[in-house]
Amino acid sequence: MRNVLIIGANRGIGRALVDAYVALGDRVFATTRSPADIPGAVVLDGLDLKDDASCLALPGRIPVPIDIAVVNAGVLTREHLPDLLGPDRTDAFARIQEQLEVNALGPLRIATAILPLLHEGSRLAVVSSRRGSVGDNTSGGSYGYRISKAAVNMAFVNLARDLVPRGITITVLHPGFVQTDLTGGRGDVSPRIAAEGLVARIDATTMETSGQVFWHANGETLPW
Ligand SMILES: NC(=O)c1ccc[n+]([C@@H]2O[C@H](COP(=O)([O-])OP(=O)(O)OC[C@H]3O[C@@H](n4cnc5c(N)ncnc54)[C@H](OP(=O)(O)O)[C@@H]3O)[C@@H](O)[C@H]2O)c1
Repeated sequence: MRNVLIIGANRGIGRALVDAYVALGDRVFATTRSPADIPGAVVLDGLDLKDDASCLALPGRIPVPIDIAVVNAGVLTREHLPDLLGPDRTDAFARIQEQLEVNALGPLRIATAILPLLHEGSRLAVVSSRRGSVGDNTSGGSYGYRISKAAVNMAFVNLARDLVPRGITITVLHPGFVQTDLTGGRGDVSPRIAAEGLVARIDATTMETSGQVFWHANGETLPW
């Protein structure tokens, strides 16, 4: 039985990750912003990626070392070029800033806050998005989401390098196009299928591949 921590676990892919690890017999700690009941998991509410105090307080609320931590929480709004050129410009930049705060700074904030819980052999993963891939960007648009996910990829590759001496692996993940609230229910795969793929990619990560690969949940590799 492994001790698993899922950040952003009350719905969508995060909730499916909890269910997947519970089904494997692991002990799961599930963080949420609001109170929630998640069968099989120890729920730790009041964790907001924008609130550093709530991130720094998390290790004190978890009584065991963590073997696998997945930073899943994220937000999506869409700002396209016309939004940046027209009367909505101020609002559009505010939404870009919000996504940077939650999707890029938030994962770095919580990852560094929970380092005291991690040990040699622990696995730390982030659910990013292929929208953050520079090499895969053929369509433009979605400025805030794309910039924030590219930034979080860099943050976690940086962590991979810096955590080599501590023997902690980093897995950077794209879950696929998944049917959740974030996509308005559209998508190619269910959260359950996406979560199974994410679990497999995290399990397969070694010190040799740590931070070296941008994984699609289906096992394909994506350009950075
Ligand atoms: N669905 C897709 O097709 C897709 C594709 C690529 C990448 N992703 C990524 O996959 C991850 C999960 O997405 P999803 O589709 O499952 O989205 P979702 O259903 O909208 O769930 C988002 C989760 O993030 C939490 N969250 C949002 N802001 C937060 C904050 N400031 N602090 C802590 N938690 C916060 C939400 O909690 P609340 O309930 O409190 O809001 C919720 O648990 C995200 O990082 C997303 O960018 C999704």
